[in-house]
Amino acid sequence: MMFSLTSNSRHTFTQRLQSVSVVFILFGLFSAVFAQEKVQLSVDASKPGAKIDRNIFGQFAEHLGKGVYEGIWVGPDSKIPNTRGIRNDVVAALKAIKVPNVRWPGGCFADEYHWRKGIGSQRVETLNPNWGGVIEPNTFGTHEFLDFIDQIDSEAYLSVNVGSGTPQEAAEWLEYLTTPQQTTLAKERAANGHPAPYKIPYLGIGNESWDCGGNMTPDYYLSQLKIYSRFVRNFNPAQQDKQQMLKIAVGPGGGETRWTEWTESIMKAWQNHQWSWDMNGLSMHNYTVVRWPPAFLSVGFGETEYSQILKSTLDMEGLINKHSAIMDKYDPQKKIALIIDEWGAWYASLPGSHPGFLAQQNSMRDAILAALNLNIFARHADRVRGANIAQMINVLQAMILTDKEKMVLTPTYHVFKMYVPFQDATFLPVTFNAGSYTHGDIALPRVDAIAARDPAGKLWLEITNVDPNSIVDIEASIAGINAKSATGETLTAPKVDSVNTFEAPNTVNTKPVAVKIEGGKLVLRLEPKSVTVISVEQ
Ligand code: AHR
Repeated sequence: MMFSLTSNSRHTFTQRLQSVSVVFILFGLFSAVFAQEKVQLSVDASKPGAKIDRNIFGQFAEHLGKGVYEGIWVGPDSKIPNTRGIRNDVVAALKAIKVPNVRWPGGCFADEYHWRKGIGSQRVETLNPNWGGVIEPNTFGTHEFLDFIDQIDSEAYLSVNVGSGTPQEAAEWLEYLTTPQQTTLAKERAANGHPAPYKIPYLGIGNESWDCGGNMTPDYYLSQLKIYSRFVRNFNPAQQDKQQMLKIAVGPGGGETRWTEWTESIMKAWQNHQWSWDMNGLSMHNYTVVRWPPAFLSVGFGETEYSQILKSTLDMEGLINKHSAIMDKYDPQKKIALIIDEWGAWYASLPGSHPGFLAQQNSMRDAILAALNLNIFARHADRVRGANIAQMINVLQAMILTDKEKMVLTPTYHVFKMYVPFQDATFLPVTFNAGSYTHGDIALPRVDAIAARDPAGKLWLEITNVDPNSIVDIEASIAGINAKSATGETLTAPKVDSVNTFEAPNTVNTKPVAVKIEGGKLVLRLEPKSVTVISVEQ
């Protein structure tokens, strides 16, 4: 129908135009909001960075609570299926995440550990005063640990006793372990079932020597470090040239002045070191704990605690920057690795559990926390060349929980499994506008991501959606390759505090994620609170 433009109708037309404009403006605004939802990610495959050392996926197994006894060791006579006393189910699960190294026997325990009590047919029962004062049967000792390492295809990171041991005790342990020559100690090793020398690739010289390891000053510790570094030798012929044992000195436990001074002292001494002592790594410990003593619950919490813990975990970045800057002053060539050999979430002990056993559940929040930390380590791959999550089984942020014959894999386990392709892959720069997720007065980057190329040439991308309430649409361009197809998997769960239990082991589990290639870009949707890993075929 035609209509004439009377003044009245002109007015109506203007009004209509205005309404149409309002619709357009609203649509524009809506699109703008919608566009914010879409995160543009750019990976530059033509600018490879440092190698993401597989050792950042290391584990920590201390004689603490049910970590070793029950978690790994059930003894050869147990009804739980085992190989020479070591649980078969745990071994199979750990093999699947390609654990690069295991730090043992502690922690605080290491500075009270006397290795001779854990070898031979007559094991000495001692105490574990740090962790509940329980009896330490020493049935899981040197040979059992190294058998476990063999069974899971990993490598040993031994922590020697500096606090209450002697250089002689540590030197004899290494001679016992590594010499091929027929010394009395080597014969004893053979009599105990292992004629061939063991490989010990990593050696920690003390643990938290500024605290549970003996309350030492930096200068006192340095004097010990020099002695241990000089006399605790590895005699394995296979480790004299290329695979030399790396010695890791005690480093900081936070960002406060006493720890920046600690890093300064050790690094300064190293810069001027003489031929007779050396080190290859400086350790750093940093737990996500918010309040001390640990009060946050590991299960049965809400979004407030979710956002508080994740905010706190991001402090790892600042801490690495702070100590790396000090290390750069004395070691601009980055010869000394920063090894974050204790990290993870430390919550209140589970009700009913022994408070000295550090038993906690592991939720979807911990999966996000693990991904954020691993991404921080990967972004600092040139300096951070090792890390050990605390701890492997039944203690703190564990991969695995056990109860007698039962075993369950935690959300953190699934993250470590998803990240296997990043082991020894080459870091690739990713740029994106992370946006922000806010809860109350807490604001966090909504999205996090890393990319890498594996040794076989395949490209991998990890993207975390921190926001527990909203999906995130991603469009990722990859300069330097022609993406043909992509596949991926995502880890998410119904709630931020969803956990896996023996009764419901798959509440937090991975599932495939759809990735389309449109105009050369990867297009995918991330579920709220999810960790996603994608591989790209070119
Ligand atoms: O992982 C538990 C304890 O935390 C370790 O024994 C100690 O090194 C740290 O303080």
